[in-house]
Amino acid sequence: MRLGVIGCGDICRYMLLMAKLNRRIRIAGCVDLDAGRAGKYASYFKGARAYTDYKAMIREQKPDAVYLAVPHCLHYPIMKELISSGIHILCEKPVATTLEDGAEIAELAAARGVKVGINYQYRYDKACYRMAVAARSGDLGQLYYGRGNVPWHRKEQYFSQSPWHCSREQAGGGTLITQGSHILDILLWSCQSRPVRVMGLTGQKKFTAVEVEDLCMAIIELENGCLLQLTSSMIASSEQPVTIDIYGSRGTATYKGGLLFSRTKFLQVRVPPYRPAAAGIHALGRSLEAFRRWIVLGEPYLCPVEESLPVLATVLAIYRAAQSGRPEKVPFV
Ligand SMILES: NC(=O)c1ccc[n+]([C@@H]2O[C@H](COP(=O)([O-])OP(=O)(O)OC[C@H]3O[C@@H](n4cnc5c(N)ncnc54)[C@H](O)[C@@H]3O)[C@@H](O)[C@H]2O)c1
Repeated sequence: MRLGVIGCGDICRYMLLMAKLNRRIRIAGCVDLDAGRAGKYASYFKGARAYTDYKAMIREQKPDAVYLAVPHCLHYPIMKELISSGIHILCEKPVATTLEDGAEIAELAAARGVKVGINYQYRYDKACYRMAVAARSGDLGQLYYGRGNVPWHRKEQYFSQSPWHCSREQAGGGTLITQGSHILDILLWSCQSRPVRVMGLTGQKKFTAVEVEDLCMAIIELENGCLLQLTSSMIASSEQPVTIDIYGSRGTATYKGGLLFSRTKFLQVRVPPYRPAAAGIHALGRSLEAFRRWIVLGEPYLCPVEESLPVLATVLAIYRAAQSGRPEKVPFV
């Protein structure tokens, strides 16, 4: 697969390392408004060219697909343009900053026959995958409730090096939309029921000069009655592992995942060693390889754009609840 890359910032560094380790992926071009970054990243790949204008890269390189890792507010306009050119996309989360824009992208992609995946790569974390498949396949019995905790640590540079992170308009929010949404995605995917109502509170404890929250706590009610609880923060005194627990009538799954390790323990039940189909040394690499297999071989990718819409709908409803001080409905998508 010939891949174009748009947005050579923080996450792109890791994704390009994954691409480098994948013999079946060739980087056609690297685009960034900062020519130095684009040039540096392109220099890692034989034959890759650097661009500051993504339209020029598309025109000249005609890649099979694009990996898009730009500020959240640019996901919608750039994807709209790429879809109209018939280019498949692996876009970083979230799909967009409004539900209308996200739904429009899903509709346009379906109408044009373009594949759009959203990189919620925890679906490709082996231990997370096993927990989610156990929940989805009934191994845990009837699901009662789930709980996720994201106790992450961000330094001042997180905002100073990427000022869009500070802006509600450009980022769409803070720790919930940017970090917690990964774990919300896993909880919703595991429980297979549509979110209907939320309660939520947000806080600004450490980063008080920015427009977005650094702490969020939420409760989410699903249509099947299952309840979810999510805490997302970027203010833990040091980066700590994500934990997710899912409690069912027959058994419990408890997941713990850090940068380099993850594991799920099952209590009371025996669960088969379910594994994601794609190979790779890290969830990011497996997500990229699974995206390639989707584009080239037509095998299913675990997070097509339409599956990211309930996550965005829930995130935005939590923000509304935090503002109104009341429970808020989650619109059907
Ligand atoms: N999946 C993950 O684990 C993960 C982790 C971190 C970030 N992300 C996501 O990746 C995306 C990017 O985040 P980041 O932390 O890398 O941000 P960043 O600020 O480090 O990088 C963004 C880059 O996009 C470039 N850019 C801005 N406008 C552009 C344009 N019009 N054309 C080309 N390039 C442009 C900027 O110059 C910058 O280099 C976000 O959606 C974020 O949520 C995902």
